[in-house]
Amino acid sequence: GLDAAAGGQPAAQPSAPPKASEPLTIIFASESGNSETLASNVAKLAKKQGFKPKIVDFADLDLATLPKAGKLVAIAATWGEGEPPARAVETYNAIMADGAPRIDGVEFGVLALGDTSYAEFCAIGKALDARFEALGGKRAYDRADLDLDFEKPAADWIKGALKALAPAETAADNVVAVDFARAGAHDEDEEPSREPKVVEVIEHVNLNSSRSDKETIHLALEFEDGAPAYEPGDSLEIYPENDPQLVEEILKATGLTDNEALRKSLLAERDITTLSAATVERFAKATGHADAQKFIESGEVKAWIEGRHLIDLIEAYPAALTAEHLDTITRPLPPRAYSIASSRKEAGDEVHLVIAAVRYATHGRSRTGVASTHVADRISNGAKLRVRLKPNKHFRLPADPATDIIMVGPGTGVAPFRAFVQERRATEASGRSWLFFGDRHFTHDFLYQLEWQEALEDGALSKIDVAFSRDQPEKIYVQNRIDEHAKELVEWLDGGAHFYVCGDAKNMAKDVRAALVRAFSTHKGLSEAEAEAHVAGLEKAKRYQQDVY
Ligand code: 2AM
Repeated sequence: GLDAAAGGQPAAQPSAPPKASEPLTIIFASESGNSETLASNVAKLAKKQGFKPKIVDFADLDLATLPKAGKLVAIAATWGEGEPPARAVETYNAIMADGAPRIDGVEFGVLALGDTSYAEFCAIGKALDARFEALGGKRAYDRADLDLDFEKPAADWIKGALKALAPAETAADNVVAVDFARAGAHDEDEEPSREPKVVEVIEHVNLNSSRSDKETIHLALEFEDGAPAYEPGDSLEIYPENDPQLVEEILKATGLTDNEALRKSLLAERDITTLSAATVERFAKATGHADAQKFIESGEVKAWIEGRHLIDLIEAYPAALTAEHLDTITRPLPPRAYSIASSRKEAGDEVHLVIAAVRYATHGRSRTGVASTHVADRISNGAKLRVRLKPNKHFRLPADPATDIIMVGPGTGVAPFRAFVQERRATEASGRSWLFFGDRHFTHDFLYQLEWQEALEDGALSKIDVAFSRDQPEKIYVQNRIDEHAKELVEWLDGGAHFYVCGDAKNMAKDVRAALVRAFSTHKGLSEAEAEAHVAGLEKAKRYQQDVY
């Protein structure tokens, strides 16, 4: 509100709203929800500035409306190795295809989200930005390509873009502060608090047998002042700490072992593993290292950084690095999101997570996943963790408890389905539930085996089919079980069942989708194209949902 005028000065008048409200279309392509949240931030600020904003998910976008958009803000995430978010694929392809409608005269701005630890940083946002121009649009504001620490730069971009898109007479000084940190979904639902919380680890159990080659930690976290209002399907972000041994290696390699403040910052605040082309550029610029500069000009950076981390760069190009250099070179350590494996109706003030320790070796060096090994190796019962809820309203149980559900979750992909089954037990839902689970070995890796057996007995789970990939000479995966049960699966889906996939995005989720297309083609006598359209229809109807990573 306006403060009382001090010192007898008249209070400043709020600037007059624009005469007619200016339509603004905000479109977003979102996978984990960040672009969607930003779209809602744009709408909130736009409304205060006299725009009439309309938010449209790529999944629901009718391209024929774009030429009439007038003013357009597009927020697009890039997923995996340069791909559009799953729900956005169809619309994205249509925009990029030959027959896309022209948008002559439409004023637009594109905000691109990505992650520099993957190849093709912000590829989708970049492609859309170029495409809108090629289709006759007028770029009103330059694109920004944002990494995982996007909140602050996104807020700045939004302010700038709205200023650029505003009609001339209202453009100046009409910027109203909005508390983006508390911004929620674009519908009227109140979002649960997104404040980070410190929680206590009250259970820390390896779900694999000691003879397994995997280590999957079941973690129970207790919220002192009550668990946040999470729903089955939501995720929890963990703020991890880096491997102290790696921190020491970096300090040693740079001769900075005496710097305590730096040690602390490298441990908990900076991303000291990710090596992107941008990291190499910042390194060369900060150090003025001539060989590193030549390396960039050689065009070989992209291939070299594959499988390498910051420490490899520091060792390959020894330079007199200072603490300030390290700060400029690295990005803030991003939190990691894990699908919640519990329902509040059973777990009360606890949140359960299932986290597989990531360990591998590349270029003669052993590597570890930051958050997963922080959890697996460096914390135990009684430890504290900083966490933040990350809601996902695109991965939800059916509104009607009588609706059947089919869940496909190999490995840690089973996490949200433990939450689903708990929820359905607690609410005595009458719909049937069918789980497809897979992992390497039955005897070592059957996560939550006893719980599934209990759920089968009490009826919270109706059916389970398992695929243990390494118990026989040939690989057997969840999609093979889907093939085997295709007829029954089609019957469930024809009866209105919802289909959920969680886990590996690169191969599993695609293979499972292909298996579903096969199932429809075989058992409904559809051509491949028709079966594909049928699955796309399920996606559109939000009856096919995925949470993949
Ligand atoms: P694998 O490691 O033996 O290849 C959980 O990680 C399970 O998912 C493992 O059994 C793993 O098998 C399996 N998996 C690996 N790739 C897969 C794919 N493309 N589709 C389905 N499951 C896969």
